[in-house]
Amino acid sequence: YGASELVVGPTADEAASQDGNGNRNGSADDGATLETIENGAFVAVDGEVVAVGPTDEIVREHPPENADTAVDASGRAVVPGFVDPHTHAVFAGDRSDEFEAKLEGTSYQELLAQGGGILRTVRATREASLDRLVENLLGHLDVMLAHGSTTVEVKSGYGLETETELRMLEAIDAANERHSVDLVSTYLGAHAVPEGADADEYVDAVVDEQLPAVAEQGIARYCDVFCEEGAFSVDQSRRVLEAGLEHGLEPKVHAEELSHLGGTQLAADLETASADHLLYATREDVDALVEAGTVPVLLPGTAFGLGEAYADAETMLEAGAPVAIATDFNPNCYSRSMEFVQTLACVEMGMTPAEALLGATRNAARAVGATDGTGTLAVGAPADALVLEAPRYAHLAYRFDTTAVETVLKRGQVVVE
Ligand code: NIG
Ligand code: FE
Repeated sequence: YGASELVVGPTADEAASQDGNGNRNGSADDGATLETIENGAFVAVDGEVVAVGPTDEIVREHPPENADTAVDASGRAVVPGFVDPHTHAVFAGDRSDEFEAKLEGTSYQELLAQGGGILRTVRATREASLDRLVENLLGHLDVMLAHGSTTVEVKSGYGLETETELRMLEAIDAANERHSVDLVSTYLGAHAVPEGADADEYVDAVVDEQLPAVAEQGIARYCDVFCEEGAFSVDQSRRVLEAGLEHGLEPKVHAEELSHLGGTQLAADLETASADHLLYATREDVDALVEAGTVPVLLPGTAFGLGEAYADAETMLEAGAPVAIATDFNPNCYSRSMEFVQTLACVEMGMTPAEALLGATRNAARAVGATDGTGTLAVGAPADALVLEAPRYAHLAYRFDTTAVETVLKRGQVVVE
């Protein structure tokens, strides 16, 4: 209660009215529609928001002294917990020397072609025990939570064979049980072609062996694929995603990250929950995504780390797309902070702090299929909220030193203070 600026997010009605014909100054995805309450408060019962409004009204109905937990947020902004909709947060090993090699001029794809990059993390992850993977992931989740992420999508994809892919998914499941961050699990067997393998034969293995085993294990919600030169073609990607659908896994695509291959059109065709990266997406691609209701997930940390150009967020926003942003945390993009991503979204991609916050909350929640109000503090939503050590939410993007997050509530419980 007492929040100088309480960000409720767009209401469900406004979200539903998003019809693909929006524009930056009128659509539900525009920052201008981010609903904020000055001197605001909310009440949660059983982890769910039951009332939100001006502090004097709320406090009259629900005196803080009667509550199990009461947080005085006077002079502080309060925002929904962040949803990080794209991470590769389960892995083992260290690739900091590749950072140095890249500074010397070796490209990401050259490293991969030499058996480095993803393939190197694959070797380390295959050797890691389940316990090691769980401990590594839990450590990362602690940092993510301290920086405000209360829901995080995590992908497999450093096994490239059935046993390790299943172990990674098991690690995600175990960490989800043990940590207060909620995890959304994605199977990414088609992340790279294993060393010495033929791409088509590997796709056969994904479709005939890995996917059935993953479906039987029952942990993964999504099936993702790295549609890229040197990884999987559009046809191969389609095969994987369609097989995933047959097994009940919803599709997602890594599209147009390092070149323009056609992954975005594939995503639109399959009406995937999200299409991610999109550095080389065209206006036509963007229109197709909007038409399909697919959320573009932009990963400016990756472009930052690789010294590449950024995705064209402004065109997407102008097209009325519900642009989401994510860390893409992985050994090639070592950032676990959705706050830093908001800074990059504003400074490097021309988004407003409101658009960046919307991208880190409500739009990100859509990218991981959340329909329960996650990413907002509207009535009925999970009470996942952040109290900032700042009077305005713009500080999230404005600051790039340490975290502006002071207190984290997950389902109404204080989990970081
Ligand atoms: O999203 N592009 C493919 N996958 C990751 C990188 C993974 C890695 O380099 O280990 C990404 O950028
Ligand atoms: Fe990725």
